[in-house]
Amino acid sequence: MNQTQTDKNSFHDGDLALLTDRKARRYMVTLAEGETYHCHLGRLQHDQMIGHSVGGWYRTDKGHIVLAVRPTLGDFVREMPRGPQIIYPKDLGNIVNFADIFPGATVIEGGLGSGALTSALLRAVGNTGKVINYEINESVLPKAIRNIERVTPDTSNLEIKIGSIYEGIDERDVDRVVLDVPEPWQAVAGIGDALIMGGILLSFVPTILQVQKLVLALEEDGRFQLIESIETLLRTWHVTERSVRPDHRMIGHSGFLTTAVRCEPKPGVPAPVNGELPTEEPTDEAEEPASDSPDE
Ligand SMILES: C[S@@+](CC[C@H](N)C(=O)[O-])C[C@H]1O[C@@H](n2cnc3c(N)ncnc32)[C@H](O)[C@@H]1O
Repeated sequence: MNQTQTDKNSFHDGDLALLTDRKARRYMVTLAEGETYHCHLGRLQHDQMIGHSVGGWYRTDKGHIVLAVRPTLGDFVREMPRGPQIIYPKDLGNIVNFADIFPGATVIEGGLGSGALTSALLRAVGNTGKVINYEINESVLPKAIRNIERVTPDTSNLEIKIGSIYEGIDERDVDRVVLDVPEPWQAVAGIGDALIMGGILLSFVPTILQVQKLVLALEEDGRFQLIESIETLLRTWHVTERSVRPDHRMIGHSGFLTTAVRCEPKPGVPAPVNGELPTEEPTDEAEEPASDSPDE
């Protein structure tokens, strides 16, 4: 085992640690030599964890035991300091998936907020990709940048532009546009100009009226096809020897994701909605039913 592999098993000065107590309450701490973490369970010296096992159990001066692991990006997002409403981890994964964010992609993001989504995008594009963020409110930057830098060691491929994404996008031939802004329909024309052919737009909005307004704007623009809107409900389960049931609490609602692909306008006919072609389109008699269609 080489030195790097050995190191990954232990906490280091500057690492994030997620502490979990016996009631599953969670506390996030950035480890610093000589520092002390205080909470109602007592005091825990950071030096007890630095140089010691990730996944280890540590005892406070009041005798309580806590488990210390490295937070995932989702853990970090749930615990991080917030300004504007963040995108929840359940949606972050689906945004990366449905917007098809890939290593090396150039992504335009609308709305920095607290930096949760930006962190997920930076991780997905990797060192060879780039995230260019348009944010209208300069005051959100300090907290967002602090958050992003805590989970993304190298932010050299992040560019933040102060301005409204509704006013247009300077860049051209971008692979993806991802929006978390209140009126995404105002950005449609600029996105149509910026996206590469076949590029994907994804927009997160909390209400279905916003979804409808966006979809209608995309159809009217005519340069977007394969327009789809989805919502993710995620339910955790309580599993013990004596009881197996869904947990009582869940996030009932966060928002809707709408995706669309930049294509050539279809002459004379409206764009397909939710993957369906307009009824006046002639159908191919020999066409096989879609393999993922539910049984009728
Ligand atoms: C809900 S927050 C984004 C949260 C972020 N996605 C996260 O996960 O932390 C919305 C952000 O969009 C910004 N915003 C609103 N209108 C905008 C516009 N026209 N152009 C750019 N940013 C805008 C707001 O200032 C705010 O920071």
